[in-house]
Amino acid sequence: MFKIVEKKNLAPNIFSMDILAPRVAESAMPGQFVIVIADEEGERVPLTICDYDKEKGTVTIVVQSMGCSTKKMAKFNEGDYFKDFVGPLGQPSEYVNEDIDKLRNEKYLFVAGGVGAAPVFPQVRWFHENGIDVDVIVGAKNKEMIILEDKIKGVSGNLYIATDDGSYGFNGMVTGLIEELVKKEGKHYDKVVAIGPMIMMKFVSKLTEELGIDTIVSLNPIMVDGTGMCGACRVTVGDETKFACVDGPEFDGHLVDFDEALKRQAQYKNEECKKNEDYECKCKQRKGGVN
Ligand code: NAD
Ligand code: FES
Repeated sequence: MFKIVEKKNLAPNIFSMDILAPRVAESAMPGQFVIVIADEEGERVPLTICDYDKEKGTVTIVVQSMGCSTKKMAKFNEGDYFKDFVGPLGQPSEYVNEDIDKLRNEKYLFVAGGVGAAPVFPQVRWFHENGIDVDVIVGAKNKEMIILEDKIKGVSGNLYIATDDGSYGFNGMVTGLIEELVKKEGKHYDKVVAIGPMIMMKFVSKLTEELGIDTIVSLNPIMVDGTGMCGACRVTVGDETKFACVDGPEFDGHLVDFDEALKRQAQYKNEECKKNEDYECKCKQRKGGVN
């Protein structure tokens, strides 16, 4: 059992939880993920790691309550326990094994979309701890949906905000802001790391290919069981077949077949909707006193 030691609301339907899991915290690296099982009836939910504190033995996850499992997790509070918390899983980001002097000569731009800001934070902090400033773009639907702004600002070189409705920062999507920085302001980037919804990663990769900037994406959103067994995260990268949960989650965005991955991501939509409807229905019955 794994204790929730702190819970914070970050935005509507988005919250963070610090989980006491010293062994996971001890070996967590940027780019990795965990699997959370809420209770005896819970399904496996793969979630990217937002933060880890080796001294306190805690790992921070950020959850957007959308489906039945994440809605169930949203009901947990400080002092409650998750049944299972497994990790760290997946391969760490490639740069953690690169020569620091080489990295110092490269300019990185991190692009976070919505909840994707959560896994971007430990990556940007890793660069900061190694004395390297990176630029970061955080994009969201509106000002209210921007998360972790202060945390990311504290460890990044320049932080740029984009909102789809223009309520804060650049008026438009992250791709519009990348174009503005590179084409209008003449910024030079050697590498882009894009983490967010699949559709965002697809279009960021398309743009950076045109701009000639190497790009890494994180395919966490297509995972289901996170163990290499269900096959849901199978993806074509160049001429190879990869499993996001075992070989990734990070891949070269210019080689990922996004159209195939997006199709595969949608294949369980009906089952997910049905499960969500059943869950909502059960909750209503409980509220109304019906068993
Ligand atoms: P969202 O739909 O609000 O999109 C966030 C931002 O992405 C937008 O503000 C926009 O700037 C950009 N974007 C969206 N569509 C785009 C397009 N067509 N072209 C260019 N840019 C586009 O995001 P959300 O509602 O927070 O969605 C969260 C998603 O993030 C979920 O699907 C979740 O699976 C995913 N996620 C991914 C990871 C990961 O590791 N890749 C981690 C956590 C969450
Ligand atoms: Fe099931 Fe990767 S998520 S095989």
